[in-house]
Amino acid sequence: MTTKVLFVCLGNICRSPTAESVFRKLVADAGLSAQFEIDSAGTGSWHVGEAPDKRAQQACRAHGIDISKHRARRVRAADFESFDLILACDEQNLRDLTDMKPQGATAEIRLLMPFAGNPADRVVPDPYYGGPGDFENTVQRACAACAGLLRQLSAK
Ligand code: 4NP
Repeated sequence: MTTKVLFVCLGNICRSPTAESVFRKLVADAGLSAQFEIDSAGTGSWHVGEAPDKRAQQACRAHGIDISKHRARRVRAADFESFDLILACDEQNLRDLTDMKPQGATAEIRLLMPFAGNPADRVVPDPYYGGPGDFENTVQRACAACAGLLRQLSAK
């Protein structure tokens, strides 16, 4: 049995490819790659087909993670059937996903950040109009949330 996890933000060029790659690395380091399918997508379509934002690539590279091969895609209706868990980076992503979810679709839609276990951190803030510190913050939040996520999913 594989668990299929989709990370979602707005553009799929900053936060969700970061979270996807961080989670993939944690899963690989734990020797659990065969048990997971991991992807990311955006609720918006402006950046479809593009590589991740250079600033996100740089912040990930500083943590030994290469996201340069990722290409942005939009969330599609089939995602709500093919993924078990769809994880939103912020509240707007969560609302958009809830609106997009076809009736009767099976995916569970949740905020990502609560998996880190700190009630003060509800979201991964959008770093797009920010500076390098905001992209570093994205990686750090993704690391904290993805570690908690893996703990929860592998305890099942
Ligand atoms: P992301 O960041 O949702 O983390 O990929 C953004 C990327 C692009 C835009 C906004 C946020 N944009 O407005 O184009």
